Amino acid sequence: MKKAKISASLLSADLSKLNLEIYSIDDLVDEYHIDVMDGHFAPNLSFGPDFVKAVRKLTKKPLDVHLMVDNPMKHIDSFVDAGADMITFHYETDDYLIGMGKMQEHIKSKGVKIGIAYNPITPVYIFGEEMDRVLLMSVKPGFAGQNFKKEFLKKIYEAKKWVKKRKYNIEIAVDGGINEKTAYQAVRNGADVVIAGSYIFKSYSHYLKAQALRQSMILGYINRKKSIK
Ligand code: DX5
Ligand code: ZN
Repeated sequence: MKKAKISASLLSADLSKLNLEIYSIDDLVDEYHIDVMDGHFAPNLSFGPDFVKAVRKLTKKPLDVHLMVDNPMKHIDSFVDAGADMITFHYETDDYLIGMGKMQEHIKSKGVKIGIAYNPITPVYIFGEEMDRVLLMSVKPGFAGQNFKKEFLKKIYEAKKWVKKRKYNIEIAVDGGINEKTAYQAVRNGADVVIAGSYIFKSYSHYLKAQALRQSMILGYINRKKSIK
């Protein structure tokens, strides 16, 4: 049984041996998560389209590009051309003024999936069925290795309930502070995708960690709260 997806966040991978990092878990994970930061929207700098291009050569698994940048609209095409399968942009972006609809339309016209990310303090507002994924940040955008707060589970549960009630085909993803315990809790409360960085890549055996994550997610799914099953 495999009812929730593991998305491995490459921000914590050892880039000096990226190929080995990916090969060590490639048959256990469902996709890769690539954090793009510009030092403005998020107080850190990370990957650009060339990195996505390199990852694209190393795996056939889907790549979700998480844009934590100002003016995400400007960057969508280059990441799609580099090999992204999903573009996730922030609800809090300044391009909000362009309009969420326009952003989504543009991403869809490029033939890739749409994710919308929400910072921990932003209330979730799902305004239609066009998006494929709602990404709930459980930590402040910018850095790996932050702690997941238990109070956050309620937000996951509420978002899942909202989507279920309307029978929308939208995945709920959780990003930040994921380990085998928080993955269990997140899936139990409705998460469909669990994004994990340090837990997998800052470990002696990435394979064993990904396996442990899978086990706890299966248990979380079996014990999912009845009201959102
Ligand atoms: C944080 C990023 C995350 C990060 C998660 O801003 O969006 O994807 O890689 O890292 P961990 O799993 O270490 O909390
Ligand atoms: Zn991320």
